[in-house]
Amino acid sequence: MHQEQTVDEQINIFFDPKSVAVVGASRKVNKAGYVIFKNFAENKRTGLFKGELYPINPNEDTILGYKCYPTLTKVPIDEIELVVVIVPAAVVPEVMEDASQKKSKAAIIITSGFGETGNHELENRIREICLKSGIRVLGPNCLGVYDPLTGIDTLFLPETKVLISGEEVIATPRPIPGEIAVITQSGAFGAATLDYLAGRQLGISKFVSFGNRLDLDESDLLQYFFKDEATKGILVYLEGIKDGKKFMEISQKVTEIKPVVVLKTGRTNAGAKAAMSHTGSMAGADDIYNTVFLQTGIIRASDMNEFFDNCKALVFQPPASGNNIAIITDAGGPGIMAADECEFKGLKIGELSGESVKALEEMRQRKEIPEYASISNPVDLTGSVTTDMFVNVTKIILEDSTLNGIIILGLHHVPGLQEDFIDRIANLTKYYTKPVVFCDIGETEMALYVRSKFEKFGIPAYASPEDAARAMASLYNYGLYLLKQNKLNDFLNKFMKK
Ligand code: ACO
Repeated sequence: MHQEQTVDEQINIFFDPKSVAVVGASRKVNKAGYVIFKNFAENKRTGLFKGELYPINPNEDTILGYKCYPTLTKVPIDEIELVVVIVPAAVVPEVMEDASQKKSKAAIIITSGFGETGNHELENRIREICLKSGIRVLGPNCLGVYDPLTGIDTLFLPETKVLISGEEVIATPRPIPGEIAVITQSGAFGAATLDYLAGRQLGISKFVSFGNRLDLDESDLLQYFFKDEATKGILVYLEGIKDGKKFMEISQKVTEIKPVVVLKTGRTNAGAKAAMSHTGSMAGADDIYNTVFLQTGIIRASDMNEFFDNCKALVFQPPASGNNIAIITDAGGPGIMAADECEFKGLKIGELSGESVKALEEMRQRKEIPEYASISNPVDLTGSVTTDMFVNVTKIILEDSTLNGIIILGLHHVPGLQEDFIDRIANLTKYYTKPVVFCDIGETEMALYVRSKFEKFGIPAYASPEDAARAMASLYNYGLYLLKQNKLNDFLNKFMKK
């Protein structure tokens, strides 16, 4: 029916539809159908969402001021591009038949209770309707999509909640527009990802939760984000891959131009069983997944922390063209911690070049760094460090072609380090294709401020030396992959132009 469109064009309708109907829209504020309809109505009120909007509910005349229709077929326009479905599972086939009559092009089925609970028959009925009508589907059993630029927000998770004290607080934040695309099989973890990204003030290009992937799957979405100009890096949470061959072909192409970080769960027998009842996914042998990710240049995160940590590194910084890493620190112990973790992860804390050592010696003679500073790798500027020392030493290491990346440990507690250190380091490093990651330890005001300010300048910042080292390892692994594909220089050239 819609054969003239490419899959990318079909997926684009989910993010930018001309008309939307919310089937199961509700006036009851604690229900999913209320939250979703309100998201659309609010974004239409502010002018962010520009399409037509229709609530569908047989028991209401109006919802939030919009005339309500008992069924999709009663809406007085010929075609409704996107249908969002939040009615109980047994009713969904009937709703999809109506959507087909209404020439809908896309449907997001939020409803649970299909293949993941063994109800394959119901899921197959919907698949048949969609195949016949050409409607592309996200879900069932998903959250759908969020696009900060077009105002499409099918998350049934209210943005704010009211505490017992009466105070209204952010509950499920919607991140600001940015460059990270999120693809997730788990809606709940997807929502947690949005919370994390918003909390860190990291922006997203688009968010998609696809649940049971009755139709569109992770590969289709990767292919879509390959072309999406707003997307610079892609975060993927997976419980299983639907079609291994298709996934490999597409991801190989994507990783040549955009980093992809995957968190693949269901690694143990217990995890695999949980994945089957969550989204009906076959988790498969973990070793095979490791091989697939390695062969396609996907960076696999071993846990949730690494998922976010690697994402920041790969989106903000260029990949490392080798594994010889420099550590510049004002704290001896954390410098050793970073060095240990680097070696565990296959990085080398190699020698500085002769020129760097000479330049550092000269700085020491001119008393620009303390005579007790260590000028081998890790370079330890000690508690007597100043902003000037950090900046000047970083410049020497940036110029050192034997070194492929820099971990800066700038613990803020020392007296000589002032805030302009952040601005000056950020200003300096942006002219180089050498990746830089930062670490400051602490959970109180200053440490949080320092890390957040570094990240605003595009330097990923970590709360432990080990996290910083692991992030650098992901930059190296991605660089190594691109190098083997003969794509590293192209990637670096494009990265510098952005
Ligand atoms: N057309 C239009 N509206 C209809 C129709 C129909 N054919 N049939 C029923 N409705 C209306 C109902 O009257 C009701 O409206 P009301 O709120 O005004 O009473 C509304 O649709 C919803 O129907 P209910 O029977 O009240 O269903 P309820 O809201 O309790 O649950 C839901 C529906 C949310 C879809 C539920 O079945 C479900 O699947 N919940 C789980 C959702 C989920 O977790 N999805 C995965 C997310 S991913 C993650 O991990 C978080």
